[in-house]
Amino acid sequence: MSLSVCILPGDGIGPEVTASAVRVLQQVCENAGTSLETASQPFGGAAIDTTGEPLPPATLEACKAADGVLLGAVGGPQYDAAARAGAPRPEQGLLALRQEMGLFANLRPSRLFPTLEGASPLREKIVRGTDILVVRELTGGLYFGDRREGDEEALDTLPYSRAEIERVAWTAFEAARGRRGKLCSVDKANVLASSRLWRKVIDDVSADFPEVEVKHVLVDAMAMHLVTRPSSFDVVVTENLFGDILSDELSAVVGSIGLAPSASLGAPDTPGVFEPIHGSAPDIAGTGKANPIGTILSAAMLLRFAAGMEDAAKSIEDAVETVLREGLRPFDLGGTAGTEDVTAAILKAL
Ligand code: NAD
Ligand code: IPM
Ligand code: MN
Repeated sequence: MSLSVCILPGDGIGPEVTASAVRVLQQVCENAGTSLETASQPFGGAAIDTTGEPLPPATLEACKAADGVLLGAVGGPQYDAAARAGAPRPEQGLLALRQEMGLFANLRPSRLFPTLEGASPLREKIVRGTDILVVRELTGGLYFGDRREGDEEALDTLPYSRAEIERVAWTAFEAARGRRGKLCSVDKANVLASSRLWRKVIDDVSADFPEVEVKHVLVDAMAMHLVTRPSSFDVVVTENLFGDILSDELSAVVGSIGLAPSASLGAPDTPGVFEPIHGSAPDIAGTGKANPIGTILSAAMLLRFAAGMEDAAKSIEDAVETVLREGLRPFDLGGTAGTEDVTAAILKAL
């Protein structure tokens, strides 16, 4: 078997964490007898520097032609001034990539490794057993609505169509059916028209999934529930911006943002994009302190979803769990293990 992966290192710690994950991918593919082909493409700020645009057409073509895409992160303060003067932002490349590839469902798992119960900012008895899958709608809502920007007035809009809600709802219901059968849909239906449509469509789709128990929760209360009773949730489905915010919150609940992976998926024949949920972390870029585990676990999701290599994916997840159980602690978990230490330990555990 062969697997082609397009690598988008991006900016800040992006190149550091993707380099780690590629080494892990190489090792597990070798173990599995799969020939792995990787090629890096310019993306984000790094692409602005060389081509003037954050998603050059050749990069998009390479992504579409690959079996899967592994992405680091984009952005950095050095692009702010030029953006104010009208230049594109690195983040626009990420949004364009998601939209161009039709990646409407972003899966963000937050599972507490039992060995990290003490690493959560929450008390152990509250966080114990937390295992949540956030299904974040990724190509609609506030991110892609009409926008007007001026010095005296600015406008962002939050549009959703029934079809956009339906397809991500199907992803979430199917995930819940394969897990513990509980789905929590998060919205702001007491204020937003788009949320009232969201709620209606979730209820309509639920008719096809009688075995899944559905609850609706308002987003402000959900932000609170996630720190008071995180272990009571299974699958959470929500619109783009709410999902962005709640998944960062959850990553900290189960340890640290440096651990959190994601998979962005579209139509079955579209290659997925796999990336950690964190950003380019300009504050630690170049120091060797970045935690590569979120990207390494994203590579595991790539093997699972893009290549059907379940055993190889599991072997990465087990190796991560093993090194944490053995006491390895990256900087973001209060330890002193740098990017290279973490990578070497995981390669050894494989
Ligand atoms: P961030 O996620 O980059 O960093 C937030 C904090 O978490 C920082 O203190 C950082 O050091 C720490 N952190 C993040 N990842 C870490 C890791 N792997 N190991 C150790 N510590 C880690 O968020 P930010 O500072 O708000 O944003 C910085 C830039 O990244 C901005 O330009 C933003 O737009 C961009 N961003 C990009 C993505 C993406 O590419 N998907 C996601 C989020 C933010
Ligand atoms: C993420 C990031 C992006 C988002 C930004 C960089 C556009 O925060 O991937 O979570 O908001 O989706
Ligand atoms: Mn985010």
